[in-house]
Parts: sequence; structure tokens; C-alpha cells
Amino acid sequence: RAAATVEKRKAFYPGEDKGFVEEMRFVAMKLHRKDQSSEGEKKAEADDKPLAKWEPSLDGYIKFLVDSKAVYDTMESIVQEAPHPSYAEFRNTGLERAEALAKDIEWFKEQGHEIPEPGEPGLTYSALLKELAEKDPPAFICHFYNVYFAHSAGGRMIGRQVADKVLGGRELEFYKWDGDLKEILAAVKEKLNKVSENWTRDEKNRCLQETEKSFKFSGKLLRLIVS
Ligand code: HEM
Repeated sequence: RAAATVEKRKAFYPGEDKGFVEEMRFVAMKLHRKDQSSEGEKKAEADDKPLAKWEPSLDGYIKFLVDSKAVYDTMESIVQEAPHPSYAEFRNTGLERAEALAKDIEWFKEQGHEIPEPGEPGLTYSALLKELAEKDPPAFICHFYNVYFAHSAGGRMIGRQVADKVLGGRELEFYKWDGDLKEILAAVKEKLNKVSENWTRDEKNRCLQETEKSFKFSGKLLRLIVS
């Protein structure tokens, strides 16, 4: 009878038996559209073109990189300062992107491009992250997972597409990691699983529920590419 109860609970939260990252991934994948991933379930909105049909502009892409840097700067200073002690686990994971973005932005500057100040999407997201980091660790960790893991997956596909269309194929530092990305991701997954083991089911659900907001804020950044 006890065994049956355990089985039932396992089935209730998809991915639960494989660790909490798998739960976060399950929720995130459903929020993709079919044209983004075969696991996607979200309906396309009228103004949302599939990635293959994006018409990126170089200015828009530079804006995206500048705003992304604002977000990664914030993320990376939060884990350094660790307003909640569990964030210290996520220092120097190898996933950090702020330095790479600084190099890319510098390169565009050397090419004679005007570099704008961070815009509304990057600043609003940064403000949200700072607020959540202080008062809602499970929600903050959800953003942490989605920001870094999305960039390692769909973000790279986007980077390749955009590079082909507006950069003559040049690969930016933003898309290069020191060491083996798969191993880095696996190590961070393990840490995320460990940190979330201390959470109640309510806190885990709180984290999963935050996924939609993460998509909303990252989506606004991505839209800069076609602005
Ligand atoms: C994974 C595409 C936007 C979060 C993926 C994968 C693809 C993809 C192809 C890999 C699926 C696999 O493992 O086989 C895209 C495209 C996007 C987009 C084309 C937009 C144009 C986003 C956004 C977020 C996000 C906005 C959240 C902020 C994730 C996460 C994963 C993922 C968490 C799982 C990564 C992993 O398992 O390591 N995406 N995505 N994606 N995406 Fe996206």
C-alpha cells in the first residue's frame, strides 16, 4: 500500500523521479512552440514567426547583446553576493556570460558600431531578478535555470541563424564556453538538484510556476533581435 502511494506521487509531477531539474525542464519545454521544439505545446501568436523566418537586423542584434549583458551582469553579481546562501553554489560554474558579452560588444564597437545603453527589456528583467533573489529564492532559481539553459540550447540555434544572416557567419564569444558545455551543464544540474532538495513541495511548485514569467522576460529580450 505504501509503495502504491509512492508510485502515485511520482506520476503526479512529471520528471520528479529524475530530479527537480527534470521537472523544470518539463515545464519549460511545454512553453515552446511546436516549431521551436517537438516537445513544445504552445500556440504561435500572430506576430511570432518561426526562427527560420526571422529577419534580424544588426542594430537589433546589438541591442539584444547589450540587454543580455545587463541581465547576465545582474545574475552573476547576485550569485557572487549571494543574498541567500544557497546561491553561492552557483559561483564560477563556467556558464557565466557577462565577460564573453563584454568582449563581443567591444568588438562591435571596434568595428565602428554605436553601442546603445541597455534598454527597457534588460533593465526590467534585471530589476525583477534582484527583487526575487532577495525575497523568493525558488523563483530566482527558476530564472537562473532558464536563462542559462535556454541560452545553451535554443540560444545557440538563434545565434547561428543570426550570425549567418547579419554577421557573415562570425561566431561570437557569447556562444563559446571554456571546457565541455555538456559537462558544465551536467555539473550545474547536479547543484540545482541538490539545492532544491531542501525545498518543500510548495516551494518547488512556486519555482515551476515562475517558468512562464521567465519566458515572458527572455522573450522580450529575444524580440530585440528583430527590432
Ligand atoms: C531547450 C529552442 C526560447 C528555455 C530548447 C531546445 C530547443 C529550443 C531546440 C532543445 C530541446 C532538446 O533538448 O532537444 C528554442 C527556440 C526559442 C527558445 C527556437 C525561441 C526562439 C526559449 C526561452 C526559454 C527557453 C525564451 C526560457 C526563458 C529552454 C530550456 C531548455 C530549452 C530551459 C532545456 C535545456 C536543456 O534541457 O538543457 N529550446 N527555445 N527557450 N529551452 Fe528553448
